[in-house]
Amino acid sequence: MTAAARFSKAQMAHMPPMPPAPPLIDPEHLAAFVDALPIPVIAKPAGTRSRLNRQVPFYRIPIQEFFSKVHRDIPPTRFWGYGKSVPGPTIEARSGSEILVEWPNQLPPKHFLPIDHNLMGAEKGVPESRTVVHVHGARVPPESDGWPEDWYAPGKSATYHYPNQQDAAMLWYHDHAMGINRLNICAGMAGLYVIRDAFEDSLNLPKGAYEVPLVVMDRMFRTDGQIYYPVTQLPDAPWVPEYTGNASLINGKLLPYLDVQPRKYRFRVLNASNARFYFLSLDNGMPFQQIGTDQGLLPAPAAVSRLAVAPGERADVVVDFSEHRGERVLLKNLTPTLMQFRVASEAVTDTSALPRTLRAIPKIAETDAVLTRRLTLEEVDNLVGEPMIHLLDGKRWHEPVSEKPVLGTTEIWELLNVTEDAHPIHLHLVRFRILDRRAIEVSDLVYDKKVTYRGDAVPPDPNEAGWKDTVRATPGASTRIIVKFEGYAGRYVWHCHILEHEDNEMMRPYEVVAPAKR
Ligand code: C2O
Ligand code: CU
Ligand code: CU
Repeated sequence: MTAAARFSKAQMAHMPPMPPAPPLIDPEHLAAFVDALPIPVIAKPAGTRSRLNRQVPFYRIPIQEFFSKVHRDIPPTRFWGYGKSVPGPTIEARSGSEILVEWPNQLPPKHFLPIDHNLMGAEKGVPESRTVVHVHGARVPPESDGWPEDWYAPGKSATYHYPNQQDAAMLWYHDHAMGINRLNICAGMAGLYVIRDAFEDSLNLPKGAYEVPLVVMDRMFRTDGQIYYPVTQLPDAPWVPEYTGNASLINGKLLPYLDVQPRKYRFRVLNASNARFYFLSLDNGMPFQQIGTDQGLLPAPAAVSRLAVAPGERADVVVDFSEHRGERVLLKNLTPTLMQFRVASEAVTDTSALPRTLRAIPKIAETDAVLTRRLTLEEVDNLVGEPMIHLLDGKRWHEPVSEKPVLGTTEIWELLNVTEDAHPIHLHLVRFRILDRRAIEVSDLVYDKKVTYRGDAVPPDPNEAGWKDTVRATPGASTRIIVKFEGYAGRYVWHCHILEHEDNEMMRPYEVVAPAKR
């Protein structure tokens, strides 16, 4: 049965009501700020391996089941993740220095979250605890990119090569297994991958204990502390269109606190949620000074008091606590509180800098683009108006590859979102710039296949005016990005980073083709 066929009229008539959610932990009733914010450990190489006659640092990060406490008063939660923590160990790499990582699958054979066998690649009989690792934002050869169908079963392993031929940026690694990506990441399969370079070092930004990753991900927890993932009323078709939870983990804890000194900190924010967009702020009104986006430093810091971070996006921010000695500052997502900063009262000397200019970013001229691709983001609804399936350019995963940029060329991709949701669209391999967003006449596109703009083109916000790999395609609008296809020829994917959409056809292959030889 295909996903599109799952809500037939006959089925609808016989559908039982949605199963009620079990009793869940309500974060409002938890003791706040009783756990210190954990900082993921830095991965250590297990040695070196020889590759093409070079000795290359070699890491081994097992993918396994473990139990971890998300809060002092909650029993240990079962996770599937990297190493023994969520997020997994942070990989620290230098630009230009390659590494090898082996990712052994040591998971138990049965999945603990609800698999939907109707989804592409999730047919019955396929190993349930399959996995394959992708480093989001990495410029890697196709065979090391984590192609969704390159998954492997427990007992198997893969060793990937990461050349790190790219600018300093905070990337992240996560599962990409076909048809169960949303479940695997929800189970805990995410970790950070930080690339550093000499230019960034020269800026003297806060570092060491003053550079802190903040990985946010929302979940629902049953009262016994276990992750709850909802299902539909159809036992054979449990897929739900979006997973959002009432509880937000920061580096794996609910409502943690962090002791800070009255000085500058660099916070590296990743939204690793399945579907939730975060709008972060500090409760004392202090702005974040955003210094970087997905793919590295901005040309200049941008002050933002409400920081929007879509699933998959990263924000690199500096916060200066020097004027707030002895205070308590809360990090909020709209109204809910996520964590607390406790600023020490003793003054300290802070020798770090927040430079007025960061990394110059060359403009890519629109005239450099050899072509513009118009690609729709659409939704096919079922009879009760619930989204059933989302498609990129009206196509499913298994249809032939239609986007074949030539290696070394520049293209404009115009994402035409005719749905009512924002979709964070991510392209593997490349970095890109956002050109603009512009409202469109949705009905013209849907019924007449014609693009009619309404209003003016709006340039990206100052805090998105850097190198990106994930872009919020806003509803009822055109979002244009300009991309140079650099790195490697081969097969990659592009997709919506709302993981429920990605697992249900909102992912397409694309192929970078080698330039024709003369
Ligand atoms: Cu975060 Cu296909 O990736
Ligand atoms: Cu990616
Ligand atoms: Cu989407």
